[in-house]
Amino acid sequence: MRTPFLAGNWKMHKTIDEAVAFANAVKGPLAEIEGVDKAVCASFVALPALSDVLADSEVMVGAQNMYWEEAGAYTGEVSPLMLKGVADLVIIGHSERRQYFGETDETVNKKLKAALAHGIKPIVAVGESLEQNEAGETESWVSGQVRAAFDGISAEQARGIVVAYEPIWAIGTGRAATPEQANQIIGEVVRATLAKLYGEDVAEDMVIQYGGSCKPSNIRELMSQPEIDGGLVGGASLDPESFIELVRGTAEVMEGMEE
Ligand code: PGA
Repeated sequence: MRTPFLAGNWKMHKTIDEAVAFANAVKGPLAEIEGVDKAVCASFVALPALSDVLADSEVMVGAQNMYWEEAGAYTGEVSPLMLKGVADLVIIGHSERRQYFGETDETVNKKLKAALAHGIKPIVAVGESLEQNEAGETESWVSGQVRAAFDGISAEQARGIVVAYEPIWAIGTGRAATPEQANQIIGEVVRATLAKLYGEDVAEDMVIQYGGSCKPSNIRELMSQPEIDGGLVGGASLDPESFIELVRGTAEVMEGMEE
């Protein structure tokens, strides 16, 4: 069975001090909640302090982006070598990076390969816009993004990659996809595309998160869906109590499913 994975994406929020205070507030309570993988993805500058505070905990630390080269004349970029030791994970291809910072399917693919080469676990984000959704293009768009992201990646490598399906119209809007909608796209589009690329066995093992207005009030419903293996959570991951509640909700649903 796949272990659900709840990851906070803090985006451009929290100073170093605020990140450390959050980590100190959640690490005790989260240690008591089993059966869910947990992570917070913070700004680059907060990663060293955050990884220190969370070193003796099971909460993983992630970056929100990375460049694919190891070093060189790339002003302002951060390489996989620089992340080693301070980040277990990296989010790649978030829609905000695609929208505002020129991320393309091609750069997503390069970054994914670089993360894998350096042993940093990638969370690759895909999702359609409102216009694409309304035009009935969700399936072709999302499966195209998955194919492009995984181009040249082996089945063995693919198993270690987390996919986050995040419909852009649900991000930061308070309007989450319905659990049924999210389940359908994750199962029939994301996992089905991965199955075509790598076979059913590999696709069945891969963790696929839902993201877009996940919150304590809807996390149980979302996690009750069989294809949804956790969440990539923005706004509702910023407050320690809310984050703990998201993890707790996920764990409770999983316990209920096992019974
Ligand atoms: P949200 O963001 O939870 O604030 O909608 C999710 C994301 O962008 O990863």
